Amino acid sequence: MSDSSIAGVLAALRGSFRARFEGAATEQALRDENAKILGKKGELTAILKQMGSIPADARKAVGEQVNAVRREVETAFEECLVALARAQREADLQAAPFDLSLPGREVAPLGHAHPISIVRDEIVDILVSLGFAVHDGPEVELEENNFTKLGFPPDHPATDMQDSFWVKVAGAPDDARTLLRTHTSNIQVRAMSSHEPPMAFIAPGTTYRRDDDATHSPMFHQIECFLVDRNVTMAHLKGVLGEFAERFFGAGTPVRLRPSYFPFVEPGAEVDVGCPFCKQPDGTRPGCGVCKRTGWIEILGCGMIHPVVFESCGIDPETWSGFALGMGLERVAVVRYGIPDMRLLFENDPRFLAQF
Ligand code: PHE
Repeated sequence: MSDSSIAGVLAALRGSFRARFEGAATEQALRDENAKILGKKGELTAILKQMGSIPADARKAVGEQVNAVRREVETAFEECLVALARAQREADLQAAPFDLSLPGREVAPLGHAHPISIVRDEIVDILVSLGFAVHDGPEVELEENNFTKLGFPPDHPATDMQDSFWVKVAGAPDDARTLLRTHTSNIQVRAMSSHEPPMAFIAPGTTYRRDDDATHSPMFHQIECFLVDRNVTMAHLKGVLGEFAERFFGAGTPVRLRPSYFPFVEPGAEVDVGCPFCKQPDGTRPGCGVCKRTGWIEILGCGMIHPVVFESCGIDPETWSGFALGMGLERVAVVRYGIPDMRLLFENDPRFLAQF
């Protein structure tokens, strides 16, 4: 290539590169255009490669011209790059704004509360709406609060090694008798020892016994409910039970009390609700495998608080009376959802848990 034709190519390039850059609509197009000029096989690169063939006396002048054009091209490329970015940003700002109300992408699989927690929360809501306040207490408890003050005789079978998990608490005296609470009735003792009557409390919680079969798990859940006031009678207890059954199990759910014995109540009763598994369209319950052919399922123990319990908590049984009940949450969940085997509740099988 002669120096005059090099000058021609340079002049043509100088006259056109700006328009070529400005015509590029995207960054990629701009970079491609730039590569056609300054890339390995670019037009200006081709000229640079020719420099050796130019007569020595003209080389310097031509070289300066080529370098001048190269700088112009480089500068224009940078400017166009910035202009494109600015235009893009401007377009983004002008475009319809993000819809911040669009729901996010779901993180699957989403968990939910365990059925025991679901029924616990519902029961707490119902009883709180009837005026009971929630009282908390420890799962590791003194024998005194779990048994003695509730009037358990020292030889009562429930206090036996067969039934309780006795634990050693670090730092406690050697003769301290401590266990995992076997029921939530320890909260009766704690609340009555620390509050002046009248009082109305519920206490949901985890409880432990050394049982393990189809209908007993060594770890289970109860909710205690008790009320202390003047002139409380069994009728108040029945009223709360009936209201609870209607709201939790549905209108028309039958409830029955059967006389029973607990050391801390007198009289005492066990409470059954109508079995949902064999309920017929006409409301009769002929009995089935789940309710042992009786048409009833036991869900709780209850009774009038024993004077001995009041005395051990410093409350005068001549002035005050009250009722207490302790409900098994697993039992209630089984009845509510028609769960055929209580053990399913603690096997953590997602195919089971996903159904709630
Ligand atoms: N604590 C008893 C139990 O676990 C239930 C109960 C509570 C009975 C309150 C009467 C009154 O079996």
